Amino acid sequence: MDFTLTEEQRLIQEAARDFAQNDLLPGVIERDEAQKFPTEEVRKMGELGFLGMMVDPKYGGSGLDTLSYVLVMEELSKVDASSSVIVSVNNSLVCWGLETFGTEAQKEKYLTRLTTGEIIGAFCLSEPEAGSDATSQKTTALDKGDHYILNGTKNWITNGSSAEIYLVIAQTDKDKKHKGINALIVEKGADGFEIGPKENKLGIRGSDTHSLIFNDVKVPKENRIGEDGFGFKFAMKTLAGGRIGIAAQALGIAAGAYELALKYSKERKAFGTEISNHQAIAFKLADMHTQIEAARNLVYKAAYDKDNNQDYDLSGAMAKLYASQVAMDTTVEAVQIHGGNGFVKEYHVERLMRDAKITQIYEGTSEIQKIVISRSILRD
Ligand code: CAA
Ligand code: FAD
Repeated sequence: MDFTLTEEQRLIQEAARDFAQNDLLPGVIERDEAQKFPTEEVRKMGELGFLGMMVDPKYGGSGLDTLSYVLVMEELSKVDASSSVIVSVNNSLVCWGLETFGTEAQKEKYLTRLTTGEIIGAFCLSEPEAGSDATSQKTTALDKGDHYILNGTKNWITNGSSAEIYLVIAQTDKDKKHKGINALIVEKGADGFEIGPKENKLGIRGSDTHSLIFNDVKVPKENRIGEDGFGFKFAMKTLAGGRIGIAAQALGIAAGAYELALKYSKERKAFGTEISNHQAIAFKLADMHTQIEAARNLVYKAAYDKDNNQDYDLSGAMAKLYASQVAMDTTVEAVQIHGGNGFVKEYHVERLMRDAKITQIYEGTSEIQKIVISRSILRD
């Protein structure tokens, strides 16, 4: 495996780095405090091609590989994880699923608008009583011939109020358990579709997280993704790739905190010398650097597997499990290295620490990644 970046990948990485510094950084503290969605920034990311990175150009996508997507996620997340989760959901959970399993009509109707940023999408699996235990879907999609009738509540939905289309997982035939679940495309504004209040969160506060309520929402059959009963597999296959995106987000958060800590340690003086000259601080930096490099290798390996048609369930889960732990450990140490300044908003590391925590929870908690990993190694 050779992770030397191609000229194209290097340019994309640079474009993402420039965008993060010039467009995301200036308002990131204010957006975090006010829980303000990055509307203008998302529009620009659409123009830059960051919202449909792996989609075929015939649907408005950038036609790039997973490693390019990971590089962009990493750069954006160094500065603003609220913006990068929007990129991750739109790319991995919405565009990928639609392009891979959607009908030509669905792709024509939705994909081009999603890849250009004209609209963004949401992925709706979690429910009040079905988070980690995702097969326990209570939302129902009853088959009424040419349409489904959708009833139930989804929880914690990223892009909850800003999305225009929602991929909703729901139970059609309870007796068939996970084989009776479907994935449906629901448009905002459908009769009976209500968006709940915005969650007031610890981190990624610029991203809008909502519950969604469906009351007898009529969804035409042509909006079903895949065959009848394919919905749970659809969700699992989609999440396998999504976890690579979140692993890259965690890697970026860790790398962002490390870069700030490294710079600060060479500027701040205590006991007559830069704090980086105190071994206790230098060793923290050594640990952070080593862990980040190890996480990067796992994340790039998972992207490599996906790009080379290898199984990536295992490598994606390992990358997410490890990178999210590194994000947590590294950001806590970055705050420590900043001393009192680490505790105030202007220095950014406290936000990165708050943002890091979610990477151990969404798209499958760390405990769920261990289930995926252990089942895989025991099966093999
Ligand atoms: N690819 C294809 N099929 C898969 C699969 C995969 N990666 N993983 C599981 N399946 C299939 C299984 O093969 C099985 O089908 P068959 O019976 O036909 O073989 C079916 O799915 C059920 O699998 P399990 O028996 O393993 O199911 P389980 O109840 O033990 O649960 C689980 C498995 C891995 C724990 C799963 O429930 C899970 O991933 N839970 C976590 C949910 C999650 O990640 N939610 C994220 C929501 S989205 C989000 O969070 C977005 C965001 O924040 C931005
Ligand atoms: P639970 O499943 O109740 O888990 C509670 C604890 O028990 C966890 O520590 C868990 O790891 C542990 N646990 C559960 N089962 C086991 C087990 N078998 N073995 C060991 N430990 C176990 N969902 C979406 O569908 N779409 C989204 O866009 C989305 N965005 C989100 C954004 C945010 C900010 C948040 C907070 C969540 C989001 N989620 C989304 C939901 C997220 O995926 C779930 O919160 C997550 O999967 C965990 O589910 P839960 O919250 O119900 O926790």
